[in-house]
Amino acid sequence: MNHSFFFTPFSPVAILFIATFFLRAKKASCTDPQFLACEPKSCGDQNISFPFHIQNAQEEYCGYPGFAISCNEKNKTVLSLSNNEYIIQEIDYQNHSLRLSNAVGFGKNTSCSPQIQNISLNGDRFRLSTNRTGLFLFYNCNSKLLESDSKLLNHKVDCSGENGNVSTVAMRVDNPLLGSVSEKCGAGVMAPVDVYRGENVSIGKMLERGFVLNWVASDCSECDESGGRCGFNYTTYQFKCFCPDRPHARSCKSGSTNRTRRRWIVVGK
Ligand SMILES: *[C@@H]1O[C@H](CO)[C@@H](O)[C@H](O)[C@H]1NC(C)=O
Ligand SMILES: *[C@@H]1O[C@H](CO)[C@@H](O)[C@H](O)[C@H]1NC(C)=O
Ligand SMILES: *[C@@H]1O[C@H](CO)[C@@H](O)[C@H](O)[C@H]1NC(C)=O
Ligand SMILES: *[C@@H]1O[C@H](CO)[C@@H](O)[C@H](O)[C@H]1NC(C)=O
Ligand SMILES: *[C@@H]1O[C@H](CO)[C@@H](O)[C@H](O)[C@H]1NC(C)=O
Ligand SMILES: *[C@@H]1O[C@H](CO)[C@@H](O)[C@H](O)[C@H]1NC(C)=O
Ligand SMILES: *[C@@H]1O[C@H](CO)[C@@H](O)[C@H](O)[C@H]1NC(C)=O
Ligand SMILES: *[C@@H]1O[C@H](CO)[C@@H](O)[C@H](O)[C@H]1NC(C)=O
Ligand SMILES: *[C@@H]1O[C@H](CO)[C@@H](O)[C@H](O)[C@H]1NC(C)=O
Ligand SMILES: *[C@@H]1O[C@H](CO)[C@@H](O)[C@H](O)[C@H]1NC(C)=O
Repeated sequence: MNHSFFFTPFSPVAILFIATFFLRAKKASCTDPQFLACEPKSCGDQNISFPFHIQNAQEEYCGYPGFAISCNEKNKTVLSLSNNEYIIQEIDYQNHSLRLSNAVGFGKNTSCSPQIQNISLNGDRFRLSTNRTGLFLFYNCNSKLLESDSKLLNHKVDCSGENGNVSTVAMRVDNPLLGSVSEKCGAGVMAPVDVYRGENVSIGKMLERGFVLNWVASDCSECDESGGRCGFNYTTYQFKCFCPDRPHARSCKSGSTNRTRRRWIVVGK
C-alpha cells in the first residue's frame, strides 16, 4: 500500500521529518550569542546599531572602535568628542552621517561660562561635512572695552548670571570683525555649525541645530542585507558579521572559504 511508504517508522519521509525537526531544534537552541547580543537598541527615538554601541547597555564588540556612545537620563544619545559632549539628533546609517549639537545650550537662560570648548576630531573616524561654517565664541570679553565698540557690541550674547566686567561675544568665522575682537576678548573657541546661504538665524538657533559629521567605519550593508549583525573582534581587530549560526567574515552568505581568508605574515626568511 502507498500508506506504508509514508508512515512506517523507517520510511524516507519519516526520517526526513525527524531529521528536520532535530536540526531545527538544534539551530534554535544555539543561536550565536554574539548575534543575540548585538540586536539594535534604541535610546530615546534613535535606533542604535553598528558602528555605534551604547556603553553599559551593549557589548563593545557590537560596535566599531571609537564609536562608543551613551544614553543619558533624558533619553538623549550622547557622543563625547575630546572635551565636549554632543547630543546626537539624527543618525543616517546609509550616508554614514550624524547630526550633532552641543549638549551645552546657548540661550538667555544658559550661563556663559566657557562650557563649549574647541572641537577636536582626533583620529580619522569623524569628518566635518562640507556645508558648515564655524561660530566663534569669546567668553572673556572686557565689558568696558566692548562698550566703546558699537559694532562688536551687536554681537554680545545675553547670558544669565554674568558679572558686569566680563561679556560673551559670538560671531561667525567669516565675520570681518573677527580680527579686531581678540584684543578685547582674548582667545575664542570655535564651534562648528551648519549655515545655509542667505539665512539669518540666531546664534542660539545655530548651535541648537548643530552640524553634520561624516564617519568612516567598516561598511555594514553586506552583512546587514544577509541577515547578520555587524560587529568587531577586538582581539583580532577585525570586522565581523555575527550571524544566527556563527560569526562570519563579511556576510552570512559567505562560506568557509572567506572565513579562513587571512593575511599570511612571513616571519624571518
Ligand atoms: C527605529 O526602528 C523602528 C523599528 O524598526 C522604526 O519604526 C523607527 O522608525 C526607527 N526610528 C528611527 C528614528 O529611525
Ligand atoms: C526613555 O525611553 C524609554 C523607551 O522609550 C522609556 O521606557 C523611558 O521611560 C524613557 N525615559 C525617559 C527619562 O524619558
Ligand atoms: C542621505 O542620502 C539621501 C539620498 O542620497 C539624501 O536624501 C539624504 O538627504 C542624505 N542625508 C544626509 C544627512 O545627508
Ligand atoms: C529660565 O530659568 C528660569 C529660572 O531658573 C526658569 O524659571 C525658566 O523656566 C527658564 N526658562 C527656560 C526657557 O528654560
Ligand atoms: C569689576 O571690576 C571692578 C574693578 O576692576 C571691581 O571693583 C568689581 O568688583 C568687579 N565686579 C565684579 C562683579 O567682579
Ligand atoms: C580654538 O581654536 C582656534 C582656531 O580654530 C584658536 O584660534 C583658539 O585659540 C582655540 N582656543 C582655545 C581656547 O584653545
Ligand atoms: C549644502 O547646502 C546646499 C544649499 O544650502 C544644498 O543644496 C546641498 O545639498 C548641501 N550639501 C550637503 C552635503 O548637505
Ligand atoms: C537678521 O534678523 C535680525 C532679527 O531677527 C535683524 O535685526 C537683522 O537685520 C537681520 N539681518 C539680516 C542681514 O537680514
Ligand atoms: C575574536 O577572535 C578570537 C580568535 O578567532 C576568538 O577566540 C574570540 O572568541 C573572538 N572574540 C569575539 C568577541 O568575537
Ligand atoms: C567571498 O567574498 C567575495 C567578496 O568579498 C564574494 O564575492 C564571494 O562570493 C565570497 N565567497 C563565498 C564562497 O561566499
